[in-house]
Order: sequence, then structure tokens, then C-alpha cells
Amino acid sequence: MSGNLLVQNAMMVLPDGIVEGDLRVVEGLIETVAHQGGLQPREGEFVIDGTGLHLLPGAIDPHVHFREPGNPEKEDLESGSRAAAAGGITAFLDMPNTIPNATNRAALEAKIDSAAKKTVTHYGFFIGATTNNVSDLQSIEGMEGICGIKIFMGSSTGDLLVHEQEHLEEIFANTGGIIATHAEDEERLQMRISEFKHRTDIAAHAECRDVECALIATKRAVALAKKHNHRLHIVHLTSADEADWLASNKGELVTTEVCVQHLTFDQNDVEERGVRVLMNPPIRYIEDKETLWKRLKDGTIDCVVTDHAPHTLAAKAIGFPKAPAGMPGVETSLPLMLTHAMDGKCSVSDVVRWMCTGPAKVYGIGNKGSLIEGYDGDLVLVDLETRRIITDDDTWTKVGWTPYVGMELTGLPMWTIVDGIPVHKRTLGGSFRGEAIGAPGCAGRTLKFS
Ligand code: DOR
Ligand code: ZN
Repeated sequence: MSGNLLVQNAMMVLPDGIVEGDLRVVEGLIETVAHQGGLQPREGEFVIDGTGLHLLPGAIDPHVHFREPGNPEKEDLESGSRAAAAGGITAFLDMPNTIPNATNRAALEAKIDSAAKKTVTHYGFFIGATTNNVSDLQSIEGMEGICGIKIFMGSSTGDLLVHEQEHLEEIFANTGGIIATHAEDEERLQMRISEFKHRTDIAAHAECRDVECALIATKRAVALAKKHNHRLHIVHLTSADEADWLASNKGELVTTEVCVQHLTFDQNDVEERGVRVLMNPPIRYIEDKETLWKRLKDGTIDCVVTDHAPHTLAAKAIGFPKAPAGMPGVETSLPLMLTHAMDGKCSVSDVVRWMCTGPAKVYGIGNKGSLIEGYDGDLVLVDLETRRIITDDDTWTKVGWTPYVGMELTGLPMWTIVDGIPVHKRTLGGSFRGEAIGAPGCAGRTLKFS
């Protein structure tokens, strides 16, 4: 499904600058980007007054955990997609550590079928690697809707894990497409988890799952990619050491990402916010955060993602160290990055490069991520004037809380549009949550990857 739509008088964030004008979508595709404005509404066209708003390409989040199947009380493809739309995200890539794990073709077909019925955004899925599913990994090569292979090199949420050299070699040698690695070294991790058993203060988390754990695995994954000439994407980079090392060792085959929370939080926020911001790999230290910003700006890091990983507050209430790791984020990532931009950390065009253009490029998603004539009509109109404090009640995620509670955000999406179809709306002065538009499945398609 697709729509016809005209946005008038918006500040359009184009690849070569920000220009005030109009943008028309016809049958789901951007037909005209009018720098001088002046486009007149056509009959039957949905018209949005963009005065005072910035028009961006819809954001693409290439790292979410929407918990379907297995944990519908935390999230499912419908609620996750609605939350994403509320945050200006028009396409997501979902991770395989569901229950059961998505490790074969049948499981992925079921996810795609469900997404087609329930989401209001575009969708793609990772297949999970195990120690003995190379033939499954091969069976989905080139399949529409499958964005890559996820390897957990260190244990995290769920039981997906491949850490022995022989198994990693087998996967890198015998598969195509992109391998995305959660890079923490399992051996060092297990050793340190037993060393840190007695610690119940949350600061122990980053000490235990330390930079060395991450760096060992990152170096190992890059070596495997180079040896086997395999595309590699390292997910959620957290440390200055990894980012600095990748700056000179990344080469052509390797891309990487950083989470909004690792650009926002440091050890002081961990102290203040506690288990809400517990995740793997951990929130680290001020120096790491600052280097991640630097390496994002110099192009070492290709994109900004959420690692949206909802857990209930009831489950978190058990406290450290038993509380589950992960935090929700799809509905706040774009506003938070735009807040950083308005606070002078970066520019609005940088945010578009890191959250729209970058993910499309990393995963080879054609026709998305930029406001260019002929591209898909995935759009978000954001308000950069107003600032509002976010509370748990303002959220769309099923778990009903946000790690950013109490923070003042700008850049809230007023309209989120998928293939020319509005799927989420807010009004100036209206509620923070805004309003979901359209029935489940009213917009969004299976993504293709090249
Ligand atoms: O903190 C995390 N939570 N890290 C992961 O690698 C997985 C995620 C989850 O699924 O909860
Ligand atoms: Zn993740």
C-alpha cells in the first residue's frame, strides 16, 4: 500500500543542505523536492503544513529486539513497530534471540508473515548462527526480508552463542551476505563473571564485562572477515579502544554502529539510573563516550542504532546482578539525537547521515535514507522548537518505561509517514505520546537487501 501526499513549507534536510520548501509523494515515491516551494495541492492528496517543522527521511533502526515470538508481554512486532513509528523510525531490522531463536528458514518465514500483517513500518530480520546451522544460514541467502547473520560471540540475553574458533571459521568460510557480531569474548567473560560474583554494586558490570572483553572479540571478528573476505558489521561499539583500533584497521569489509545510550550515558548515569540502564555490552565511562562521538564524526562509526531490548520493570526489580540486561529505545532515539544536535553536539544533517543514510548504506537497502526524487516516501516531520520532559507514561513500548525518564527532549516527530501513508501523528501542545494512525499492517513492506 502507498499514498499520495504533499508537505508544504518545511525545512527539508536534503543530502546537500537544509532548504525550506515542499515535497510531494506520489504512489509512495518522492516525486518532487521543490526548493522554492509553491507546489499546489492536487485533488485527493493528503496535505501537511510543515511550517516550523523539519522534514527528514524516515529513520532506519538496524538493531532491535521485538521479542516475537516468545515474550509478547515485553513487545511484539505490532507494538514494536508502533513504538518505532512514534519515534520517527520507518524501517527496522530485528534480532534473532527470540523464543524460539530464529535460526532457520521456517522461523524467519513466520516472522515475515506476522510482520506483513501487523507492522506499520518496513521490516527485515537477522538469522541467528549456532554451532551447527551452516546449512540453515545458506538456505536463506538472498531471501527477501533477511538482512544478515547474527553471531553472539559472547553470552547475552538468550542462549545464542558461537565462540569457538572452529565454528566461527566454518560460518565465515561458508556463508555470504553480512555477518553482524556481538563482540564480547566468551572465555574472558566467563572467567570474569566468576571473579566478580561477590559484587552487587552496579558499577561492577562495566568492570566485569570490560573493554578487553570487547576488544579481543572485535579484533577476532575483523581477522575472520579479512581471512575469509566476508562482509562484517560489528554491533554496538562501546569503548574508546575498539573505536580507535577500528579507525586504522577497519578496511573495506567492516562497518560498525553505536547505540544512542552509549553516546548519552556514562558511569554517573549508571550510578543514578541503576538497572534501567543495565545492558550488554555495558554503558562505560566518560572517555569512552567522548571517543565514540569523535569516531562517529570522523566516519569510523557508520550509524547510530537503539539495540531496543525491552524487559519489564518487574523483571528489572530483582536488582543487579540478576536483573536482565537491555533497555527500550526506538521511540526516543531520533528525538534524543536531535536533542544532542540542538545542544551543539552535532548537526541535524549529521543525525540524518547516521540514522537514515548510514543504515541504508551498511545493509544495502535501496531507495531509502535520503530525501531524493524517486526514493521511497518514508518521511518524518520533527519539531525542533519545543522541549518536553519524558515520563514512563509517555511510552508506546509494551514494557511502559524509558531509560531516559526525566530528561528534556526536543525533536519529537509530529508526523511519521511510510510509503506516503501517515502512521503516527502528534500535535503541538497535544500529548507526548500522540496518536497511532491506521490499522495494523496498513503500511510497510518486506525490505530487500543487496
Ligand atoms: O543488553 C542486551 N540485551 N544485550 C544483548 O546483547 C541482548 C539484549 C536483549 O535481547 O535483551
Ligand atoms: Zn542487541
